Amino acid sequence: MNDFVKVFAPASVANLACGFDILGLAIEHPGDEIIARKSNHSGLRISKITGDNGLLPLDIEKNTAGYAAKQLMITHGCQNVGVELEIHKKMPFGSGLGSSAASAAGAVFAISELLSLEISKREMLASAVLGEQRADGAYHADNVAPALLGGIVLIRDNTTLDIIELPVPEQLYVSVAHPEIEILTKEARNILSSVVLLNQHVKQNGNLGAFVAGLYKNDYELISRSMNDHIIEPQRKKLIPWFDDLKSTLIKTECLGTSISGSGPSIFALSKGAAKAEKVHQIMESFFQNLVIEHQVYTSKINCKGAHRI
Ligand code: HSE
Repeated sequence: MNDFVKVFAPASVANLACGFDILGLAIEHPGDEIIARKSNHSGLRISKITGDNGLLPLDIEKNTAGYAAKQLMITHGCQNVGVELEIHKKMPFGSGLGSSAASAAGAVFAISELLSLEISKREMLASAVLGEQRADGAYHADNVAPALLGGIVLIRDNTTLDIIELPVPEQLYVSVAHPEIEILTKEARNILSSVVLLNQHVKQNGNLGAFVAGLYKNDYELISRSMNDHIIEPQRKKLIPWFDDLKSTLIKTECLGTSISGSGPSIFALSKGAAKAEKVHQIMESFFQNLVIEHQVYTSKINCKGAHRI
Protein backbone atom coordinates (compact mmCIF):
# COMPACT_ATOMS: atom_id res chain seq x y z
CA MET A 1 0.00 0.00 0.00
CA ASN A 2 1.19 3.55 -0.75
CA ASP A 3 1.50 6.32 1.83
CA PHE A 4 1.49 9.14 -0.72
CA VAL A 5 0.16 9.50 -4.27
CA LYS A 6 0.26 12.48 -6.63
CA VAL A 7 -2.07 12.50 -9.64
CA PHE A 8 -2.59 14.73 -12.69
CA ALA A 9 -6.08 14.88 -14.24
CA PRO A 10 -6.54 16.81 -17.47
CA ALA A 11 -8.95 19.45 -18.68
CA SER A 12 -11.51 18.30 -21.23
CA VAL A 13 -13.74 19.59 -24.00
CA ALA A 14 -17.36 18.44 -23.72
CA ASN A 15 -20.12 18.33 -26.35
CA LEU A 16 -17.77 18.57 -29.38
CA ALA A 17 -20.41 20.55 -31.27
CA CYS A 18 -22.82 17.72 -32.10
CA GLY A 19 -22.92 15.69 -28.86
CA PHE A 20 -24.42 17.73 -26.02
CA ASP A 21 -23.80 15.88 -22.74
CA ILE A 22 -22.63 12.74 -24.56
CA LEU A 23 -19.29 13.52 -26.26
CA GLY A 24 -16.03 14.69 -24.72
CA LEU A 25 -12.28 14.54 -25.15
CA ALA A 26 -9.29 15.10 -22.90
CA ILE A 27 -6.55 17.63 -23.67
CA GLU A 28 -2.89 17.46 -22.63
CA HIS A 29 -2.90 20.58 -20.48
CA PRO A 30 -3.93 22.32 -18.30
CA GLY A 31 -5.06 19.95 -15.54
CA ASP A 32 -5.41 19.65 -11.79
CA GLU A 33 -3.04 17.93 -9.39
CA ILE A 34 -4.38 15.90 -6.50
CA ILE A 35 -2.28 14.53 -3.67
CA ALA A 36 -3.64 11.80 -1.41
CA ARG A 37 -1.76 10.62 1.68
CA LYS A 38 -2.41 8.26 4.54
CA SER A 39 -3.29 9.83 7.86
CA ASN A 40 -3.66 8.56 11.43
CA HIS A 41 -7.09 10.14 11.74
CA SER A 42 -10.00 8.00 10.64
CA GLY A 43 -11.86 9.04 7.49
CA LEU A 44 -11.29 11.51 4.67
CA ARG A 45 -10.45 15.18 4.98
CA ILE A 46 -9.24 17.89 2.63
CA SER A 47 -6.08 19.35 4.14
CA LYS A 48 -5.19 21.92 1.51
CA ILE A 49 -6.52 23.63 -1.62
CA THR A 50 -4.36 25.92 -3.74
CA GLY A 51 -5.03 27.91 -6.92
CA ASP A 52 -8.68 28.57 -6.08
CA ASN A 53 -8.42 32.08 -4.59
CA GLY A 54 -10.08 30.72 -1.47
CA LEU A 55 -13.29 29.91 -3.36
CA LEU A 56 -13.52 26.15 -2.95
CA PRO A 57 -14.95 24.56 0.20
CA LEU A 58 -12.87 22.27 2.41
CA ASP A 59 -16.12 20.55 3.41
CA ILE A 60 -16.11 17.05 1.83
CA GLU A 61 -19.86 17.20 1.19
CA LYS A 62 -19.55 20.39 -0.86
CA ASN A 63 -16.26 19.82 -2.65
CA THR A 64 -16.37 17.98 -6.01
CA ALA A 65 -13.06 16.18 -5.42
CA GLY A 66 -13.81 15.44 -1.77
CA TYR A 67 -17.32 14.15 -2.47
CA ALA A 68 -16.08 11.95 -5.34
CA ALA A 69 -13.30 10.51 -3.16
CA LYS A 70 -15.73 9.85 -0.31
CA GLN A 71 -18.17 8.05 -2.62
CA LEU A 72 -15.40 5.78 -3.88
CA MET A 73 -14.25 5.00 -0.34
CA ILE A 74 -17.81 4.15 0.74
CA THR A 75 -18.34 1.95 -2.34
CA HIS A 76 -15.24 -0.04 -1.43
CA GLY A 77 -15.86 -0.18 2.30
CA CYS A 78 -12.81 1.88 3.27
CA GLN A 79 -14.50 5.06 4.47
CA ASN A 80 -12.81 4.76 7.87
CA VAL A 81 -9.26 4.64 6.51
CA GLY A 82 -7.45 7.90 7.32
CA VAL A 83 -6.82 9.88 4.13
CA GLU A 84 -5.85 13.50 3.51
CA LEU A 85 -6.44 15.13 0.13
CA GLU A 86 -4.63 18.15 -1.30
CA ILE A 87 -6.25 19.80 -4.31
CA HIS A 88 -4.04 21.98 -6.49
CA LYS A 89 -6.21 23.81 -9.01
CA LYS A 90 -4.23 24.54 -12.13
CA MET A 91 -7.10 25.69 -14.29
CA PRO A 92 -9.87 28.28 -14.04
CA PHE A 93 -13.45 27.62 -12.88
CA GLY A 94 -16.45 28.36 -15.03
CA SER A 95 -14.21 28.09 -18.08
CA GLY A 96 -15.80 25.30 -20.12
CA LEU A 97 -12.63 23.25 -19.61
CA GLY A 98 -14.10 20.73 -17.18
CA SER A 99 -12.37 22.08 -14.09
CA SER A 100 -14.59 20.40 -11.51
CA ALA A 101 -14.52 17.17 -13.54
CA ALA A 102 -10.70 17.14 -13.51
CA SER A 103 -10.66 17.49 -9.72
CA ALA A 104 -13.24 14.73 -9.28
CA ALA A 105 -11.46 12.39 -11.71
CA GLY A 106 -8.09 13.08 -10.11
CA ALA A 107 -9.47 12.47 -6.64
CA VAL A 108 -10.98 9.06 -7.35
CA PHE A 109 -7.87 7.93 -9.19
CA ALA A 110 -5.64 9.13 -6.33
CA ILE A 111 -7.75 7.29 -3.73
CA SER A 112 -7.75 4.11 -5.77
CA GLU A 113 -3.96 4.21 -6.09
CA LEU A 114 -3.38 5.18 -2.46
CA LEU A 115 -5.55 2.38 -1.13
CA SER A 116 -4.49 -0.12 -3.83
CA LEU A 117 -8.14 -0.78 -4.65
CA GLU A 118 -7.15 -2.55 -7.89
CA ILE A 119 -10.22 -1.44 -9.79
CA SER A 120 -10.52 -0.20 -13.35
CA LYS A 121 -11.05 3.46 -14.18
CA ARG A 122 -14.53 2.56 -15.38
CA GLU A 123 -15.30 1.30 -11.89
CA MET A 124 -14.30 4.71 -10.47
CA LEU A 125 -16.43 6.65 -12.91
CA ALA A 126 -19.76 6.73 -11.05
CA SER A 127 -18.12 8.18 -7.91
CA ALA A 128 -16.37 10.85 -9.97
CA VAL A 129 -19.62 11.82 -11.74
CA LEU A 130 -21.37 12.13 -8.37
CA GLY A 131 -18.56 14.45 -7.29
CA GLU A 132 -18.90 16.64 -10.36
CA GLN A 133 -22.65 16.75 -9.85
CA ARG A 134 -21.91 18.81 -6.71
CA ALA A 135 -20.77 21.61 -9.05
CA ASP A 136 -23.60 21.94 -11.56
CA GLY A 137 -26.38 19.77 -10.18
CA ALA A 138 -26.61 17.59 -13.29
CA TYR A 139 -25.42 13.98 -13.73
CA HIS A 140 -23.44 13.83 -16.96
CA ALA A 141 -20.08 12.24 -17.68
CA ASP A 142 -18.94 14.10 -20.80
CA ASN A 143 -16.12 15.87 -18.91
CA VAL A 144 -15.44 13.34 -16.14
CA ALA A 145 -15.14 10.30 -18.43
CA PRO A 146 -12.45 11.78 -20.72
CA ALA A 147 -10.64 13.39 -17.74
CA LEU A 148 -10.46 9.98 -16.08
CA LEU A 149 -10.05 7.63 -19.06
CA GLY A 150 -8.44 9.96 -21.60
CA GLY A 151 -9.22 9.94 -25.32
CA ILE A 152 -12.56 10.70 -26.95
CA VAL A 153 -15.59 9.29 -25.17
CA LEU A 154 -19.21 8.77 -26.21
CA ILE A 155 -21.78 8.33 -23.48
CA ARG A 156 -24.65 6.19 -24.75
CA ASP A 157 -26.51 6.70 -21.49
CA ASN A 158 -25.55 9.03 -18.66
CA THR A 159 -27.82 7.29 -16.14
CA THR A 160 -26.13 3.90 -16.40
CA LEU A 161 -22.79 5.37 -17.53
CA ASP A 162 -22.79 3.17 -20.60
CA ILE A 163 -19.73 4.69 -22.27
CA ILE A 164 -17.77 3.92 -25.42
CA GLU A 165 -14.13 4.90 -25.89
CA LEU A 166 -13.89 6.08 -29.49
CA PRO A 167 -10.87 5.82 -31.81
CA VAL A 168 -8.56 8.83 -31.83
CA PRO A 169 -7.25 9.70 -35.31
CA GLU A 170 -3.47 10.06 -35.24
CA GLN A 171 -3.33 13.59 -36.68
CA LEU A 172 -6.18 15.08 -34.66
CA TYR A 173 -5.29 18.20 -32.67
CA VAL A 174 -7.44 20.32 -30.41
CA SER A 175 -7.03 24.02 -29.60
CA VAL A 176 -8.97 25.75 -26.85
CA ALA A 177 -9.11 29.49 -26.24
CA HIS A 178 -10.13 30.51 -22.75
CA PRO A 179 -11.08 34.17 -22.34
CA GLU A 180 -10.97 35.15 -18.68
CA ILE A 181 -14.66 35.60 -18.06
CA GLU A 182 -16.64 33.13 -16.00
CA ILE A 183 -19.80 31.31 -17.10
CA LEU A 184 -21.14 28.89 -14.52
CA THR A 185 -22.27 25.61 -16.06
CA LYS A 186 -25.41 25.68 -13.94
CA GLU A 187 -26.39 29.02 -15.47
CA ALA A 188 -25.45 27.97 -19.00
CA ARG A 189 -27.71 24.93 -18.55
CA ASN A 190 -30.58 26.95 -17.09
CA ILE A 191 -30.91 29.08 -20.25
CA LEU A 192 -31.40 26.04 -22.49
CA SER A 193 -34.84 25.32 -23.85
CA SER A 194 -36.12 21.86 -22.96
CA VAL A 195 -37.83 21.67 -26.36
CA VAL A 196 -35.99 20.38 -29.44
CA LEU A 197 -37.69 20.69 -32.80
CA LEU A 198 -37.94 17.60 -34.97
CA ASN A 199 -35.82 19.10 -37.77
CA GLN A 200 -33.12 20.09 -35.26
CA HIS A 201 -33.14 16.57 -33.82
CA VAL A 202 -32.77 15.04 -37.29
CA LYS A 203 -29.85 17.30 -38.21
CA GLN A 204 -28.09 16.83 -34.89
CA ASN A 205 -28.45 13.04 -35.01
CA GLY A 206 -27.08 12.97 -38.55
CA ASN A 207 -24.04 14.95 -37.44
CA LEU A 208 -23.49 12.91 -34.30
CA GLY A 209 -23.60 9.58 -36.13
CA ALA A 210 -21.35 10.89 -38.89
CA PHE A 211 -18.86 12.37 -36.39
CA VAL A 212 -18.48 8.98 -34.71
CA ALA A 213 -18.23 7.27 -38.10
CA GLY A 214 -15.56 9.80 -39.10
CA LEU A 215 -13.45 8.83 -36.07
CA TYR A 216 -13.77 5.12 -36.90
CA LYS A 217 -12.99 5.69 -40.58
CA ASN A 218 -10.16 8.14 -39.88
CA ASP A 219 -12.06 10.42 -42.26
CA TYR A 220 -11.18 14.02 -41.40
CA GLU A 221 -13.52 15.43 -44.06
CA LEU A 222 -16.46 13.61 -42.52
CA ILE A 223 -15.46 14.75 -39.02
CA SER A 224 -15.32 18.29 -40.35
CA ARG A 225 -18.74 18.15 -42.05
CA SER A 226 -20.26 16.79 -38.85
CA MET A 227 -19.09 19.52 -36.48
CA ASN A 228 -22.31 21.51 -36.44
CA ASP A 229 -24.49 22.22 -33.46
CA HIS A 230 -28.10 23.00 -34.36
CA ILE A 231 -29.42 22.95 -30.81
CA ILE A 232 -27.09 24.24 -28.07
CA GLU A 233 -24.65 26.64 -29.72
CA PRO A 234 -27.38 28.95 -31.11
CA GLN A 235 -28.75 29.36 -27.56
CA ARG A 236 -25.48 29.65 -25.65
CA LYS A 237 -23.54 31.87 -28.01
CA LYS A 238 -25.55 34.82 -26.66
CA LEU A 239 -23.45 34.46 -23.49
CA ILE A 240 -20.25 34.87 -25.53
CA PRO A 241 -20.38 38.25 -27.33
CA TRP A 242 -17.45 37.62 -29.71
CA PHE A 243 -18.37 34.02 -30.57
CA ASP A 244 -19.59 34.58 -34.15
CA ASP A 245 -16.56 36.74 -35.03
CA LEU A 246 -14.06 34.21 -33.73
CA LYS A 247 -15.90 31.30 -35.32
CA SER A 248 -15.95 32.89 -38.77
CA THR A 249 -12.24 33.78 -38.43
CA LEU A 250 -11.35 30.24 -37.38
CA ILE A 251 -13.32 28.59 -40.18
CA LYS A 252 -11.12 30.44 -42.70
CA THR A 253 -8.04 28.72 -41.22
CA GLU A 254 -9.10 25.31 -42.52
CA CYS A 255 -9.67 23.94 -39.05
CA LEU A 256 -12.00 20.94 -39.11
CA GLY A 257 -14.63 22.69 -37.04
CA THR A 258 -15.17 24.91 -34.04
CA SER A 259 -17.79 25.42 -31.34
CA ILE A 260 -18.24 26.25 -27.67
CA SER A 261 -16.17 24.10 -25.31
CA GLY A 262 -18.58 22.57 -22.80
CA SER A 263 -20.74 25.32 -21.37
CA GLY A 264 -18.28 28.06 -22.41
CA PRO A 265 -16.91 30.67 -22.54
CA SER A 266 -13.96 28.71 -23.96
CA ILE A 267 -14.08 27.98 -27.67
CA PHE A 268 -12.41 24.95 -29.20
CA ALA A 269 -11.36 23.93 -32.68
CA LEU A 270 -10.21 20.59 -34.06
CA SER A 271 -7.49 20.52 -36.71
CA LYS A 272 -5.77 17.94 -38.85
CA GLY A 273 -2.02 18.06 -38.26
CA ALA A 274 0.33 20.20 -36.18
CA ALA A 275 0.78 22.98 -38.77
CA LYS A 276 -2.94 23.77 -39.06
CA ALA A 277 -3.35 23.50 -35.29
CA GLU A 278 -0.53 26.00 -34.81
CA LYS A 279 -2.28 28.42 -37.20
CA VAL A 280 -5.52 28.06 -35.21
CA HIS A 281 -3.58 28.64 -31.99
CA GLN A 282 -2.06 31.88 -33.33
CA ILE A 283 -5.43 33.15 -34.57
CA MET A 284 -7.04 32.49 -31.19
CA GLU A 285 -4.15 34.31 -29.47
CA SER A 286 -4.28 37.39 -31.67
CA PHE A 287 -8.09 37.52 -31.60
CA PHE A 288 -8.18 37.97 -27.82
CA GLN A 289 -5.06 40.17 -27.79
CA ASN A 290 -6.86 42.54 -30.17
CA LEU A 291 -9.90 42.59 -27.91
CA VAL A 292 -7.61 43.23 -24.91
CA ILE A 293 -9.17 40.31 -23.05
CA GLU A 294 -7.00 38.24 -20.73
CA HIS A 295 -6.88 34.71 -22.12
CA GLN A 296 -5.00 31.45 -22.44
CA VAL A 297 -4.81 29.23 -25.51
CA TYR A 298 -3.98 25.53 -25.28
CA THR A 299 -3.17 23.31 -28.25
CA SER A 300 -2.33 19.62 -28.11
CA LYS A 301 -3.08 16.22 -29.46
CA ILE A 302 -5.86 14.34 -27.72
CA ASN A 303 -4.72 13.18 -24.27
CA CYS A 304 -5.17 9.42 -24.33
CA LYS A 305 -3.85 8.84 -20.80
CA GLY A 306 -6.45 10.68 -18.73
CA ALA A 307 -5.79 10.73 -14.99
CA HIS A 308 -2.36 9.35 -14.13
CA ARG A 309 0.28 9.39 -11.42
CA ILE A 310 3.03 11.97 -11.59
N1 HSE B 1 -22.34 18.96 -21.36
C1 HSE B 1 -22.15 19.94 -20.34
C2 HSE B 1 -22.84 21.22 -20.76
C3 HSE B 1 -20.68 20.20 -20.20
O1 HSE B 1 -22.64 21.63 -21.91
O2 HSE B 1 -23.58 21.80 -19.97
C4 HSE B 1 -20.38 21.20 -19.14
O3 HSE B 1 -19.95 20.58 -18.01
